[in-house]
Amino acid sequence: MRLNAPQDQTLIGESPAFLEIIDQCSRAARHDRPVLVIGERGTGKELIAARLHFLSPRWEKNFVQVNCAALPENLLESELFGHEAGAFTGANMKRIGRFEEANDGTLFLDEIATTSLSAQEKLLRVTEYGTFQRIGSNKTIQTDVRIIGATNIDLPAAADRGDFRHDLLDRLALDVITLPPLRHRRDDILLLAYQFGQRVAQDRGWSSFAGFSDDMIDALMQHHWPGNIRELKNVVERAVYHTEDEVTPIALLELDPFESPFRPRADRPAQSENTTSPAPQEQTVLDGNPIDYARTVGTFEARILQDALEKNKFHQRDTAKFLNLTYHQFRHQLKKHDLL
Ligand SMILES: Nc1ncnc2c1ncn2[C@@H]1O[C@H](COP(=O)(O)OP(=O)(O)OP(=O)(O)O)[C@@H](O)[C@H]1O
Ligand SMILES: [Mg+2]
Repeated sequence: MRLNAPQDQTLIGESPAFLEIIDQCSRAARHDRPVLVIGERGTGKELIAARLHFLSPRWEKNFVQVNCAALPENLLESELFGHEAGAFTGANMKRIGRFEEANDGTLFLDEIATTSLSAQEKLLRVTEYGTFQRIGSNKTIQTDVRIIGATNIDLPAAADRGDFRHDLLDRLALDVITLPPLRHRRDDILLLAYQFGQRVAQDRGWSSFAGFSDDMIDALMQHHWPGNIRELKNVVERAVYHTEDEVTPIALLELDPFESPFRPRADRPAQSENTTSPAPQEQTVLDGNPIDYARTVGTFEARILQDALEKNKFHQRDTAKFLNLTYHQFRHQLKKHDLL
């Protein structure tokens, strides 16, 4: 299924999980309520937000996008709501905010979980009464904006921690679209990979795209894809750009372009030659901040499994041996970490 959206943004996918999202998106687009789009990094939240707007009755009006994480707290509020001249140091001229710009259309608040509690209070007011004030003004402005929020964090948990207002969450969560990670829509991996490969082949002026070798297909299918579709796109684009010959299937899988024996490690600062390394028992693994023990250990285990798989070209029996695990124990670990 190819769903064409403006700006040459095409949503690709045929897996049941993806088609279900597309259905949900079409249903949500029709009504005029806020929508939250949730998903791990690189799962396509921005494309889905755009689709929600362009399928909605507001499609001919403005689709305004704000990355809430890109601006410091005070600037975000003036970006969203605008300000009067002299409202704060540096505000020399009056500025129309994004809410006014998006009037009658859609405002996409990307990374919405990073907004301050003060901005959230103002957002709550807009979602409840459709009103706000420019910073430095008492005049109430009426607006008609549909809000779409996106985040990759667990918003109810953030609300329980006090980092996100429960009442705003309730207002925004009229429809929640949760995008599946790529590892849960494995049927789409090759489809996406071929599509991305073909685009680069076309860019390079090749007459056709020869596809991928069997080993590369295995590796693409086995990888965990923590960076989801963005990671897959980068890996495939890199592989096609690094290939000289257009007739041989691509066989070069470079999952981490920084991998090198000479790579400087930020977490392991180079020791100067005359300092001796501390003995292992003197090293400390915690920096003093509290951690979630189970999650940290789980992440570490998953990274070991992933690295070991890559080092062993995704051969599971070799990887089990490499880790000094029985094949059965190894499969159990893969299952536990959702790596099968
Ligand atoms: N279904 C899809 N078909 C084709 N390309 C896709 C699809 N989903 C995502 N992409 C591509 O993957 C990349 C990441 O998508 P997007 O920026 O929408 O992710 P995101 O969920 O917003 O990620 P982040 O949380 O890191 O901001 C983009 O280049 C986008 O074009
Ligand atoms: Mg994004």
